[in-house]
Amino acid sequence: MDRDNPDPASVEEAAAIIVQGGLVAFPTETVYGLGADATCGPAVARIFRAKRRPMDNPIIVHVSCPDEVLPLVQKVDQTAEALMSRFWPGPLSILFRRSRRIPPEVTGGLDTVAIRCPDHPVALALIRAAGVPIGAPSANMSGRPSPTTAEHVLEDMEGRIEGLLDAGPTGVGLESTVVDLSCRPPVILRPGAISPEDLAPYLGEVRVADRSAGPPRSPGTKYVHYSPRARVVLVDGRPELLPPRVAELARHYSERGERVAVLCRSENVDCYQGALTLVLGPGNRPDLVARQLFARLREADLRGVTVVVAEGGFPRRGLGLAIMNRLEKASDEKITVSGGDGHGWG
Ligand code: TXA
Ligand code: MG
Repeated sequence: MDRDNPDPASVEEAAAIIVQGGLVAFPTETVYGLGADATCGPAVARIFRAKRRPMDNPIIVHVSCPDEVLPLVQKVDQTAEALMSRFWPGPLSILFRRSRRIPPEVTGGLDTVAIRCPDHPVALALIRAAGVPIGAPSANMSGRPSPTTAEHVLEDMEGRIEGLLDAGPTGVGLESTVVDLSCRPPVILRPGAISPEDLAPYLGEVRVADRSAGPPRSPGTKYVHYSPRARVVLVDGRPELLPPRVAELARHYSERGERVAVLCRSENVDCYQGALTLVLGPGNRPDLVARQLFARLREADLRGVTVVVAEGGFPRRGLGLAIMNRLEKASDEKITVSGGDGHGWG
């Protein structure tokens, strides 16, 4: 259907499935979600079964406006208020203490709930038509790259869900930023399109959760994520230093009989002649790279690739932070190339 003009009959049909406790995949501005009535424990439990998702990994609740948050939470403080009015609708999920309207299935037993208002006409129309908040993780099989098209959803979910609203490729391509305001300084549990720099004016200091430090605060971060079936070797370092090392690794794995693909910037394609290339987009356009990343990882699987050698080196700010986070999570191994000039590349 048309993103900006959702077909009312299809939306009504999908909403009826949700109200009856069924599962509907739908587009958001980030990735496709797999939705159920967030106030109905058994419906939410079906999401976990369909995705084969561990029950302790909480899902995000989607609302159509900030007012709908009130019955779902204990309280909305001024900071949350400010973030909602600045960034909603948009790719920012905020943690609140949950009220009794949110069943424990949604939160994996935690007393907090992550809520966001998606910036997508089809998602908003679906939530309004259903008349209930919609709990929705990304509509992929657990551990696989998130779906950015309806075709990706079908690859993983065909026969496991009751409905799918197809409005073409999603815009951002990476999942929402998840922020926890309950600690000082507030913590970004998952980087996304709303960057630490975007949040700083509202939060003052803001920390990005470090995977290596202590037990994960966001249960999702402890599981394998975004991974194609292929082994992913990430080569990180200053962008201009990457191609020779990436090409060398691609040759090395090919010689060992692997089916190799190189995940690279469009300007570097010529450096990998003879190799299968999966092109992310221009290195100076993180918006385009983010939009392509998961589709290219899925393409590796469709083409039977066994080793992906991936260019890293995206600056860890703005959307680049989220791109590097997903690349690192998708990878089995990281190699850092240094220029020998003694300077960090940041
Ligand atoms: O962009 C998105 O956020 C997409 C679209 C569909 O909205 N949804 C999405 O959901 O990515 P999911 O379930 O794939 O990722 C939710 C992330 C997980 O890392 C989960 O652990 C974390 O948010 N999360 C959810 N509720 C939480 C909570 N109460 N406390 C800590 N982390 C939470
Ligand atoms: Mg997910």
